[in-house]
Amino acid sequence: MKRAFTAACAATILALPVTAETIAPGDVTYEDGAVSTSLTGVPGNPEEGAIVMGTKSIGNCVSCHEIGALADVPWQGNIGPALDGVADRWSEAEIRGIVANAKMTYDGSMMPSFYKVSDFIRPGIGFTTKPLAPEDVEPLLTAQQIEDVVAFLVTLKEE
Ligand code: HEC
Repeated sequence: MKRAFTAACAATILALPVTAETIAPGDVTYEDGAVSTSLTGVPGNPEEGAIVMGTKSIGNCVSCHEIGALADVPWQGNIGPALDGVADRWSEAEIRGIVANAKMTYDGSMMPSFYKVSDFIRPGIGFTTKPLAPEDVEPLLTAQQIEDVVAFLVTLKEE
């Protein structure tokens, strides 16, 4: 019995697509909306971050934000502020907090919470009242995608 349990635990650990250093969505610490610790411990890649932001099927930030540095991406929206010079307005920790969960900075923001998996109001499976199992819920962006986006945004300075 004990051996079977240990084997099951080992299998679960191997199946998780996270490294030991990745901070899970529910474990992120916000201080006045800011997140000072990297979510992965791996430096973000600004080029990947630009792709996440400009690609409809990934971050799709351009649907609400204009970003001059992504001028080749068409149809940029203006629901949120233009992100040019965003690094002059916010620190890296504040930017990480806004991208992970904008509601911690802007109460009631319509910006999606990109790194959050709980406390959503969702319909049950197939419109039943059955709640979704927690493991069915993935954050909109992975921890590393958040870090990549942050690495790109901190380059957007005008001053
Ligand atoms: C549905 C629209 C929407 C989407 C999609 C969206 N945002 Fe936002 N964002 C907003 C709004 C609106 C604000 C302004 C704060 C507020 O009033 O809620 C904002 C604010 C921000 C700010 C602070 C801007 C400043 O200059 O003060 C940053 C940074 C930001 N968003 C980054 C992102 C990133 C990165 C993505 C994609 C991963 C994204 N946003 C996707 C609507 C959106």
